Amino acid sequence: MSAKLKISNLILLLLMSFAANASDFSPYVDADGNISLPDSFRTQMAHIGSWFVPDGDASGFHDVFTEKESLEAYRKTKDFPDGATLVKEVRAHRSGNFTTGANISYSESTKLWFVMVRDTQNRFPHNKVWAEGWGWALINIDNPKKNVATDFANDCKGCHLPAQKSNWVFVEGYPTLHE
Ligand code: HEC
Repeated sequence: MSAKLKISNLILLLLMSFAANASDFSPYVDADGNISLPDSFRTQMAHIGSWFVPDGDASGFHDVFTEKESLEAYRKTKDFPDGATLVKEVRAHRSGNFTTGANISYSESTKLWFVMVRDTQNRFPHNKVWAEGWGWALINIDNPKKNVATDFANDCKGCHLPAQKSNWVFVEGYPTLHE
């Protein structure tokens, strides 16, 4: 075997072991089903809509993003494709008077992120953050690699039940999914 061939075999082996370590369907999910925040989602993904929560712990703007490809697939099939990511960025807000009117609200610093990753194959049956066709993550700003949610049933399910019929996503808030 020539030296060149040996090196290319070695590279192939290395690539294969990388592929075995990462989950093949999402760059934001590892082989054990751990979910991390997508890098550069603000510039790389499509903004599909925002919510405004006036008071309480979750107050501020909730800006929601998905991949451009996932948005296009949704428009065709009315569902998010396997591997699709939804990122909800929760930002604090301020209000003031502007030339558009009084008491106008605008976004400030990020408080935290929620992430959902579509899994139509039930890949992680023993991991409690994977349920109902999605991986569910809550990520604090001090560590974008760490999902601090541990159990969909305790951390997310109760609040998302009203959206069960639309695959657990509050689609009424995202007109961009339809037009
Ligand atoms: C207090 C209730 C509540 C809890 C707890 C909650 N959610 Fe949500 N979530 C909502 C509501 C309501 C919306 C849409 C309106 C909004 O953001 O105010 C939403 C929207 C989202 C979105 C944007 C896409 C969509 O479904 O509309 C993501 C992503 C998300 N949640 C993920 C999660 C994850 C992951 C968890 C658990 C770690 C979780 N949520 C826990 C109530 C909740």
